[in-house]
Amino acid sequence: MSTREFTPAAGRLAGVGSYDLLIRLFTREQTWRPRLLSRIAPRAGERILEVGCGTGTLAIALKSMQAGASVVALDPDAKVLEIARAKADVATARVEFRQGFLDEAGLPPGSFDTVYCSLVLHQVPPSVKADLVAGMIALLKPGGRLHIADYAKQEGLMRLLFRLTVQLTDGIADTQPNADGCLEGLLRDSRLELAQSDAFFKTPSGRIALFSRTRA
Ligand SMILES: C[S@@+](CC[C@H](N)C(=O)[O-])C[C@H]1O[C@@H](n2cnc3c(N)ncnc32)[C@H](O)[C@@H]1O
Repeated sequence: MSTREFTPAAGRLAGVGSYDLLIRLFTREQTWRPRLLSRIAPRAGERILEVGCGTGTLAIALKSMQAGASVVALDPDAKVLEIARAKADVATARVEFRQGFLDEAGLPPGSFDTVYCSLVLHQVPPSVKADLVAGMIALLKPGGRLHIADYAKQEGLMRLLFRLTVQLTDGIADTQPNADGCLEGLLRDSRLELAQSDAFFKTPSGRIALFSRTRA
């Protein structure tokens, strides 16, 4: 198994066991998670990949929405996958949880209808952000969809709240590029087409954006 470092789900100050509670309290997940799920709208026979699935909330929900879709959920953290697998048992959802990093997972290029990641890109170093976006795009079939839910450009009060919460737990170096708009830049530079208008959600930990793009 890879020895590469990564920031765990709840950052460096809290254990992964508290992750779901922190997300509930600090991100208004009931507003943006359903919007992301309805954008993905899984169909029978589709292959869907989540990168950095954490405790599996979204992957399990997708599998519950459409049992006929194949959902692969990847994360480098064994501890968080243990929580995800336990939750999936309860939901009797059969998600394929796999431990690992995207570039080491050996997934065939052009093999997924949908690839998405949620709350991952703000936690990784700047060069990894670009690599992950490129890696996710490479896995899409022509016409496939990429969805990103994450902290993007922050302004005014949202910037202050982001500083007092996310940047406190995840550090400045990896998170500041998001607050300065790097995700918007990466997507502008990609050759993807707009699938749905960008959506933004004000939360107690900063503004969370939903970006949906299509591979032409
Ligand atoms: C904040 S959690 C998000 C979990 C989940 N996607 C959600 O929406 O709740 C970020 C996850 O990304 C994983 N992660 C960290 N670095 C990563 C990397 N380089 N590639 C993929 N996943 C990574 C962490 O282990 C963690 O589980």
